[in-house]
Amino acid sequence: MPPKIGILTVSDRASRGEYEDRGGPAVFDALTEMLTGAWEPVRRVVPDELHTIELNLTELCDQEGCALVVTTGGTGPAPRDVTPEATEAVCEKLLPGFGELMRAVSLRSVPTAILSRQTAGVRGKTLIVNLPGKPAAIRECLLAVMPAVPYCVDLIG
Ligand code: MTE
Repeated sequence: MPPKIGILTVSDRASRGEYEDRGGPAVFDALTEMLTGAWEPVRRVVPDELHTIELNLTELCDQEGCALVVTTGGTGPAPRDVTPEATEAVCEKLLPGFGELMRAVSLRSVPTAILSRQTAGVRGKTLIVNLPGKPAAIRECLLAVMPAVPYCVDLIG
């Protein structure tokens, strides 16, 4: 069976259907471009609610058995941006280097990249990586960290 990859869009408005989810498809496209082997996507769209994000992350890791879960959105400083908090709450180990690298790379093109609190961590055999919500940020950030992802998934699996 090909490994599962969770794609979790965190957005109040996309989850209410007020606008189309653009982050999830952008993550899917970027992963399709960057991964060579077969993989199975598991897609979800949730509002910016701490417990809902935690629950969905937990399900994607423990029930779905995803090797990797990529979140998009909710990493900024606004009151409802809580994706990093949910990620930290469900992970046993944090990998701060992922956030540091993605911000450093993004800062070369946008000064507002400093506003993202995106992080990464490990829950069981799953690597969770946060990305900002903007589609342009998604490809840039994934390209930066992807060289380390298969090795990390191997180490924890
Ligand atoms: N990173 C990249 N590469 N490109 C961007 O346009 N936008 C920033 C930042 N990181 C951006 C980026 C902005 S404006 C914000 S507010 C934060 O990501 C948080 O975005 P989020 O709340 O959608 O996760």
